[in-house]
Amino acid sequence: MDVLSVASEAYPLVKTGGLADVVGALPAALAEEGVRVRTLLPGYPGVTNALRDAQTVWTFEHMFGGPARLLAGQAGGLDLFVLDAPHLFARYGNPYIGPGGHDWPDNPLRFAALARVGASIAQGLLPAWQPNVVHGHDWQAALLPAYLFYDAAPRRAGSVITVHNLAFQGQFPRELLASLGLPPWSYSLDGVEYYGAIGFLKAGLRFADAITTVSPTYATEIRTPEAGMGLDGLLRLRGGSVVGILNGIDDTVWDPATDKLLAGRFTAADLSGRATNRAAVGARMGLHADPDAPLFAIISRLTWQKGMDLLPAAIPTLLAEGGQLAVLGAGDGEIEAAVRGAAAEHPGRIGCVIGYDEALAHQMQGGADALLVPSRFEPCGLTQLSALRYGTIPVVARTGGLADTVIDASPMALHAKVATGVQFTPATAEMLESAILRTATLYRDTAAWRRMQTNGMGTDVSWRDPARRYAALYRSVAV
Ligand code: ADP
Ligand code: GLC
Repeated sequence: MDVLSVASEAYPLVKTGGLADVVGALPAALAEEGVRVRTLLPGYPGVTNALRDAQTVWTFEHMFGGPARLLAGQAGGLDLFVLDAPHLFARYGNPYIGPGGHDWPDNPLRFAALARVGASIAQGLLPAWQPNVVHGHDWQAALLPAYLFYDAAPRRAGSVITVHNLAFQGQFPRELLASLGLPPWSYSLDGVEYYGAIGFLKAGLRFADAITTVSPTYATEIRTPEAGMGLDGLLRLRGGSVVGILNGIDDTVWDPATDKLLAGRFTAADLSGRATNRAAVGARMGLHADPDAPLFAIISRLTWQKGMDLLPAAIPTLLAEGGQLAVLGAGDGEIEAAVRGAAAEHPGRIGCVIGYDEALAHQMQGGADALLVPSRFEPCGLTQLSALRYGTIPVVARTGGLADTVIDASPMALHAKVATGVQFTPATAEMLESAILRTATLYRDTAAWRRMQTNGMGTDVSWRDPARRYAALYRSVAV
């Protein structure tokens, strides 16, 4: 089975969020299932510069405004095709946003080009390599099944679209239709039209053979008007073609016994190395050394989706329970300012690093007591999975993948010794406060806490089971 994965980011080459983690880790897990994956990425400088043994396998004279080459090679542990189109992708920094903080105005052309090339490979562009399935991720790859549908070419691969976040849909003016290489008749309710514009994700959901999203609960939620963000009707129409497959994490990158980014390594049997990480985080964030204070951590985009605006209201409760708080994140300017303000107001008890820091994220997972994830919606979420693996107790809103991956410390779950964290619903400041109170109470019960840590660390959060599910899905749509 040969699969072409098409995406706009992949760890460790280019990452703005969990999408990159998934695209980067799934190929190795699928190899164990007999699936060979090659990944098609845009030729950003960070990708083309990292490419080893690059060969030009195709040249395009006109690729949406300029010449382009398709390169094949390896980088970041992945087998890659890279769309080297300097007029579209030779730009440093964030892959979607220009220096002024706004989306690149030609984003529709940039990602239509990515999907266009993916579709051509599916149609047999490369005599030496023909995939059985093309798997596109998010709106950036979602025009791919539409090209397969409207092209007058025989079908040579099945198609899968994965929704990582329905909030990002890729909606662009209808005037672009011809420049995207789509025929006039594709602009219809039953085609790529979406609320008077062209909808990339809509098109993908309409034409893909199978649709997946990254947790079973999110797959159910997005069929409702409350969480469907305008696409619930179409998703209901696609019925059984929409399935939820949970994400995993790369358990070679996230292994507390071998993780080189940690200050201290540890195992489920001997957690003593956690104290070294806690000290490192405390030193970095200016927290008082206080071994009795439960240390709450946040590693997140600082956005409304993640419930980060709820934090200020919950901080008095956290402090009254004797807790400390360490925040690592970046995003919304107002939320960043609120977090900085709270740290300035409570020096030694609240600390923050505004920015992106991979090593610090690992040390926080390896040293904090609890991880707060109060998301309003969460397709899957990866930080609670790393927390489980590192003995940090996840305290999460009961939504999407957070609902599917954490076992709440209810009286029965504690009695049955299966609890791994704390859940609350809805994601409001009041319920976050109650969850912090419950967590602090549990923390004082040393035996129950230790048991939850052991349970979490024993949970299989790897890609093994999800990879089996993707492999079975590929077999069901393969051509
Ligand atoms: P999303 O993709 O919605 O942001 P996920 O939980 O799926 O959320 O993935 C977030 C990923 O980004 C995780 O790998 C997490 O560790 C990482 N991450 C988020 N913020 C930071 C940060 N400020 N520094 C380092 N890593 C971060
Ligand atoms: C998106 C979602 C997140 C998910 C990630 C990877 O960024 O917000 O919940 O874990 O994609 O699938």
